[in-house]
Amino acid sequence: MASGATWNRDKRIPVAGPQITDAEVALVADAARNGWYENANAYINQFERLVADYCGVKHAIAVSHATSAIHLALETLGVTEGDEVIAPDITWIASVAPIYQTGADAVLVDMKEDTWCIDPAAIERAITPRTKAILGVDLYGSMCDWPAIEKIARERGIKVIEDAAEALGSSLDGRRAGAFGDISVLSFHGSKTVTTGEGGMLLTNDEALYRRALFLRDHGRTNVQGRYQMFFNTEIAFKYKMSAMQAALGVGQMKRIDALIEHKRNTFEWYRKRLSGLNGVSINVEPPNVFNCFWMPTIVLDPSLGVTRNDIMEGLDARGVDSRPFFTPLTDMPAFAEHKAAQRFAKANVVGARIAPYAVNLPSSALTTEDDVDYVCAAILEILREGEVAERAIAS
Ligand SMILES: Cc1ncc(COP(=O)(O)O)c(C=O)c1O
Repeated sequence: MASGATWNRDKRIPVAGPQITDAEVALVADAARNGWYENANAYINQFERLVADYCGVKHAIAVSHATSAIHLALETLGVTEGDEVIAPDITWIASVAPIYQTGADAVLVDMKEDTWCIDPAAIERAITPRTKAILGVDLYGSMCDWPAIEKIARERGIKVIEDAAEALGSSLDGRRAGAFGDISVLSFHGSKTVTTGEGGMLLTNDEALYRRALFLRDHGRTNVQGRYQMFFNTEIAFKYKMSAMQAALGVGQMKRIDALIEHKRNTFEWYRKRLSGLNGVSINVEPPNVFNCFWMPTIVLDPSLGVTRNDIMEGLDARGVDSRPFFTPLTDMPAFAEHKAAQRFAKANVVGARIAPYAVNLPSSALTTEDDVDYVCAAILEILREGEVAERAIAS
């Protein structure tokens, strides 16, 4: 680790962001010139095929955001008013907000200590006759215990959605993120490993769900070809299509996905080498049956160090480094205060409540260098030292 790091770099270190090469720019330019008329769907079809094949799933539907993919998934599975969907308390609000768009209620439960993903035991406790679906989130690239979740769901006839927005490239027992549940979703937001600017994907192996999702994505048009039928709607639905230019960017990014994931894993390894030996500081796990894409390297501080997430974030900010707070429990947010079903297990969600105030996401953009990581880690040590806990933290 660089000692005596200088805090006067000319550029801030961003927390996340893409690497766009000339190859991607050429594809987007081609889509802008030629992605019309008979070629209007060419890049979209190609992008969908690349993602479906990569994830090992039969069908993929490109959409405007992962948020819309989650809404579309819920609607496709028939989630509606009066239903409950069990979801993690610790996630980005986008995982859960679409549940309310269907008229259903979210029931928010605790996460596991090691993977930070939804706890199957907490899911079992939350099941009621109203439970229609379980939505698991592969948080920061970690994988949910999908075999346990799928077993719980199968035994009770409950549907499963995998929110793999943050996990493209991860796998569990050799099965890729995006390949679990009845329907799964990915995000291509600018902060994600593969980006289309804004964008998402709905994935499924089920032909009937695929047809239904296609129909709902595009204003409930009949699937019959012909000028008249194309403008004949049999249900009121949604408009969630992705544009050809976005898909072209996605095609370019998917062609480089192995290199993009490798960079993420290298970045994590640079952090791991420098931070994992510190007492009271833990980082993302990778169980033996998991390949973690490490979308966001994250540290969790032991409360005994006396340093909080906010101390680390403020200290990094002052040194020109952007970071992100670990997700705050949704049940602590004013947006969920009045939602009784969401709050049902709020007090029982002790693992997330304990970890969130002490956890920080560290910079890992596609442009992050080992030198950047050196600088960030030196800064973290300095902040811990300011908190007069360096001896305890550093001695290992
Ligand atoms: C876990 C999770 N779910 C859903 C989303 C929503 O993705 P999008 O921004 O593409 O709508 C995100 C995006 O940040 C996410 O992290």
